[in-house]
Amino acid sequence: MSNDFSRVRTAEDYTAARAASIEDPEAFWAAQAERFTWRRRWDRVLEWEFETPSVKWFIGGRLNITENCLDRHVEAHGDRTALIWEPNDPKEQARRITYSELHERVCRYANVLKAKGIGKGDRVVVYMPMIPDLVVGVLACARIGAIHSVVFCGFSARSLADRINDAGAKAVLCSDGMFRGPKEMPVKSVVDEALEQCTTVEHVLVSRRVGWDVSMQPGRDTWLADELEHVDATCPAEEMDSEDPLFILYTSGSTGKPKGVVHTIGGYMVYTDYSFRNVFQYEEGQVFWCTADVGWITGHSYITYGPLLAGATQVMFEGVPTFPDPGRFWQVVDKHRVNVFYTAPTAIRSLMACGLDHVLSYDLHSLKVLGTVGEPINEEAWHWYKTHIGKDRCPVVDTWWQTETGGILISSLAGVTDEKPGHAAHPLPGVQPVLLNAEGGEITGNGEEGLLCMKFPWPSILRTTWGDHERCRQTYFSAFKGMYFTGDGAKRDLDGRYRIIGRVDDVINVSGHRFGTAEIESAINQAKGVVESAVVGYPHDIKGQGIYAYVITEAPVGDPEDMRGHIVEAVRQAIGPIAKPDKIQFVSGLPKTRSGKIMRRILRKVAEGELDKLGDTSTLLDPKVVDEIQEGRL
Ligand code: WT7
Repeated sequence: MSNDFSRVRTAEDYTAARAASIEDPEAFWAAQAERFTWRRRWDRVLEWEFETPSVKWFIGGRLNITENCLDRHVEAHGDRTALIWEPNDPKEQARRITYSELHERVCRYANVLKAKGIGKGDRVVVYMPMIPDLVVGVLACARIGAIHSVVFCGFSARSLADRINDAGAKAVLCSDGMFRGPKEMPVKSVVDEALEQCTTVEHVLVSRRVGWDVSMQPGRDTWLADELEHVDATCPAEEMDSEDPLFILYTSGSTGKPKGVVHTIGGYMVYTDYSFRNVFQYEEGQVFWCTADVGWITGHSYITYGPLLAGATQVMFEGVPTFPDPGRFWQVVDKHRVNVFYTAPTAIRSLMACGLDHVLSYDLHSLKVLGTVGEPINEEAWHWYKTHIGKDRCPVVDTWWQTETGGILISSLAGVTDEKPGHAAHPLPGVQPVLLNAEGGEITGNGEEGLLCMKFPWPSILRTTWGDHERCRQTYFSAFKGMYFTGDGAKRDLDGRYRIIGRVDDVINVSGHRFGTAEIESAINQAKGVVESAVVGYPHDIKGQGIYAYVITEAPVGDPEDMRGHIVEAVRQAIGPIAKPDKIQFVSGLPKTRSGKIMRRILRKVAEGELDKLGDTSTLLDPKVVDEIQEGRL
């Protein structure tokens, strides 16, 4: 190929790259894969079918992703800064870690894991705040071929235990505690509590962050720092198969049980690097900052892997946007001369609500590209971001993707393809979206709305759900034959740009985080005195969607605030504080069909305040409950 399109720089390039990627996907992706270090070249680029499903990329290829994130950069430019770690407290000094230093730290950490008998295929759960050891620990797993599963530090002991058990993890990497804004919070003691319900974990490695005296179980728990003293500074990378699992990341779906999305090495590597460089138009030497936590897919693909694969310099931030004040993001942008800034609409909306004073004292002239991810962005927030943060000179990319897609699938390419508020806009080269009607027929015209599916695999598509391949088939590949179903509805505007409307299943997107209604209901039902509950999402100014719970109790509620407290506590224990309901309405019954199915449509309309749009209620078992629910609306 005369042009391998590894870097699309113009709108014409984009059109040509997309055409080439559709005409000959194998040649297109093989050209991208050439950029990496492989121990053995692949025999075939792609084999796939969406029935079972089975998708394999770069078949027969052998590699280690950390040689691509680290070793090849150490050879070329080891003194380049890989991570600029900005601590929670602005008074604490930031730390810069070069590619050479990161390489050494990963090797040492990997040697510690090896000395504990952890190796290829073993599962390691990582439960850590945003400190450098989090990225180092994750890469150390990849170095030795262990499968990492990062669990966001805001999840409760019970959620953590469920994930450890589902993965059958042999080790847990954690810290003593964590800083979050003005608060200090426990981490190790949450792990201890979780491990009371787990039998597979043999080792717990603890990083020191807050300096607490935590309990250490002899034979099981050790301080990482002590272990690091006894190991070598080099660690040969384990040779892996392109299709070996790289990680498991748990995410919510329509059922109560989170599923372990599995990504494999070769395809994930090629796609995260490709999408990172092209969407953000990242140039060598620039400073990139993604504000997500490594506990979510965004922090896997656009902190841990994408930027390091591309040899980028990036900020890793431990804190929160509002500490010590709502100007923190902008202060950090100025301090580290950030060029590319990637955050969530919910963060933009919450900072927007704090007023412009917190923005205007900063210069922000280093910024070149802005991005958003996680949920649809409303036009008001988009314009505020564009005008007040980007000063009307930075392109804004609205990036649509999912835990399951591994990387950004629909987005403008910064400054290359056009942008439009509220629109993720254009499929990346190699991505083939389609809109379907409810019967599965393809909607080919523009200006139409449908269910968003993908008809062809891209390299970082999920391969399975851990321990339950049938669930993967059921959830993503069974709704429409031969299609990957995203769970989102979308509209194509008259010029063919995609606008993501939101989930069409029982999934709520709270501040860009995904929760299944069933998962929250089962947590609520564990509160004493609760008989049954139904949870729906409703529009929330800051979070995008809020959680509205309808709850039936055993006895009439005495003090509603007391009962609400119990329910919130039950959710906190089962899932974590991030999933706690915003509104709890006590009801004597739920609108059910004669077959006993809850009619969520009605509950959603009440929660949204669209009381005149309840639709047909004649099929309900007891239409009277709807009146009661409407009257008691919060
Ligand atoms: C769901 C995936 C991808 C990382 C963060 C969330 C929604 C994501 C956008 C966007 C509109 C978006 C979708 C998607 N979503 N990005 N730019 N515009 N909606 O990952 O937890 O796997 O959730 O988030 O509904 O299906 P996730």
